[in-house]
Amino acid sequence: MKIGVAERRIFAYLTPYLWPHFIGALVCMVLYSATSGAVPYIVKGLFERFQAGDIEGLNMQPLFIIGVFGLRGIVNYGQSYLSEWVGQRIVLDLRADLDRKVLSMPLSYFDRAQTGNILSRITTDVLLVRQALTDGGAAIVRDATTLLVLTAVAFYLDPVLAALFSIIFPVVVLPLQKLSRKMRRLSRRGLDTLGGLSVLVQETIQGARVVKAFGMERYEDERFRSENERVLRLHLRAAKIKSFTGPMMEFTSACGIAGVVWYGSASLMGGERTTSGMAAFFTALMLLYDPFKKIVKANNTIQAGMGAASRVFDILDAESEPSGRPGAATIDGFHDKIEIEHVSFAYGTENVLSDVSLEVRCGEVVALVGASGGGKSTLADLIPRFYEADSGSIRIDGIDVKDIELSSLRSLIAVVTQQTFLFNDTVRNNIGYGEINRSDEDIVEAAKAANAHDFIVQLPDGYDTKIGEMGVQLSGGERQRLAIARALLKDAPILILDEATSALDSKSEQLVQAALGRLMEGRTALVIAHRLSTVRNADKIAVVDDGRIVELGTHEKLFQSGKLYRRFYDMQFDDEHTIAREQSA
Ligand SMILES: Nc1ncnc2c1ncn2[C@@H]1O[C@H](COP(=O)(O)OP(=O)(O)OP(=O)(O)O)[C@@H](O)[C@H]1O
Ligand SMILES: [Mg+2]
Repeated sequence: MKIGVAERRIFAYLTPYLWPHFIGALVCMVLYSATSGAVPYIVKGLFERFQAGDIEGLNMQPLFIIGVFGLRGIVNYGQSYLSEWVGQRIVLDLRADLDRKVLSMPLSYFDRAQTGNILSRITTDVLLVRQALTDGGAAIVRDATTLLVLTAVAFYLDPVLAALFSIIFPVVVLPLQKLSRKMRRLSRRGLDTLGGLSVLVQETIQGARVVKAFGMERYEDERFRSENERVLRLHLRAAKIKSFTGPMMEFTSACGIAGVVWYGSASLMGGERTTSGMAAFFTALMLLYDPFKKIVKANNTIQAGMGAASRVFDILDAESEPSGRPGAATIDGFHDKIEIEHVSFAYGTENVLSDVSLEVRCGEVVALVGASGGGKSTLADLIPRFYEADSGSIRIDGIDVKDIELSSLRSLIAVVTQQTFLFNDTVRNNIGYGEINRSDEDIVEAAKAANAHDFIVQLPDGYDTKIGEMGVQLSGGERQRLAIARALLKDAPILILDEATSALDSKSEQLVQAALGRLMEGRTALVIAHRLSTVRNADKIAVVDDGRIVELGTHEKLFQSGKLYRRFYDMQFDDEHTIAREQSA
């Protein structure tokens, strides 16, 4: 990202809050600076009245001081609160945009993206952006006005000395620009590495069981340590720059002040300047130093924030899931057939599906069977357009899925995926997911049909039990039954069941199978199963091997003539035979 672009885009987030909040903050800042300009005059006035012995005038001074600092306090509060207000709104908007963007990403994005890395952008990076805007941007505005006012005062008080001092500005500003660019790059790299660190932590948390089971704590510790140290090194490099800018400008300012002292003292001795004039001028110089220092510091914050902003914009600029070609159709039902024609698909470069054709008529149950890795789940994913086919077409009632508006396409399809995913929420809300307005009776009915009701009522809070992240507090089979209940509740005309009963014991499987059988009546289903017994009654069975459909027909037909199907069948039959023998022995 080019320098300057990030600033402009961040500024766009500021525009909705320009009036009254941001302008209000600026007004407060300007007033604050203006009161700073009054301070040298207080000192000057004091000196003059001391020298003149003006008791009455001196008596007025405390009131004046209290007045000035009272106003200073009020406007300081105003600028601080208002700029924070604006900053927090911007954080809110940025987070909302990021979240919305993440929700709109195609699944292929999540195949590559790492959770920890996305998370750190939504949590940490936006805070840095805010810091750049509020602490940084506001400080620049405030301190730049202070600086301008004080410089004007200094020039007004003593133009010659002020001009002498001004020589230092370019000496500080030029190297600062160079350091700024470096700072921004380092910030970006530091955050990238930090994101990598969150990815590691997230993995060790989610994979805690595997880490322990394989005794890999030391290995994980080492992985973390080396990544952690990379973060440290990058931060130290940034710290070097940050620590350098302060002393650099301090020293340069000291040179300026030394010049002023040298020249000023000589002219004071020569009687060209007065003590009170010099005192006022030096007060202005001393006051000037503070905002100058703050601007330099604020610049560091801004550069760090812009590094973070570039990461935030990386997400915001990623391509969303296409919701359909222009003029995409909405469909409100499924009446005829799904036609998969000459479909090929690759996740990367290697084809996972090659020239697959399959027809699923309305009301049919079509099963996909075959060796692991053959492409069954992938084929099923293409129908609700979780991924898009590279070539060929998938049509529902004659309309290409690419031409159907996404939400209407997906509302037709209920999916039970191979990896069940449940939310850290109540059982009720997990079943009702996607059907938020359904009544409790409907939810219980779906749970009963999925053979889940009995175990649910035994949970501590029944349907109101929270089941932990990804449903960790449930057994694999229980999770699967909740996922089935969720799909049943959706009541969609097309069902995709990917290994929906794989985690169930044979008794539960029979019960769920019966429930699914009832459910599939009058619906269209694509069922993926390893256990052939579960798909025996399907209208059509497609054997998928290495990305192709190699055999297609009913169980009877394939049992007679399907070579691969027969082999699978015999293998499983042998297994079942052995198990039965062992059990009876
Ligand atoms: N998200 C992905 N990114 C890249 N490659 C993938 C992805 N998902 C699956 N694959 C690859 O695509 C191939 C087909 O996978 P798929 O999940 O469709 O097989 P499957 O037939 O469902 O297998 P199983 O019976 O084990 O579930 C596999 O070789 C797998 O490595
Ligand atoms: Mg699969």
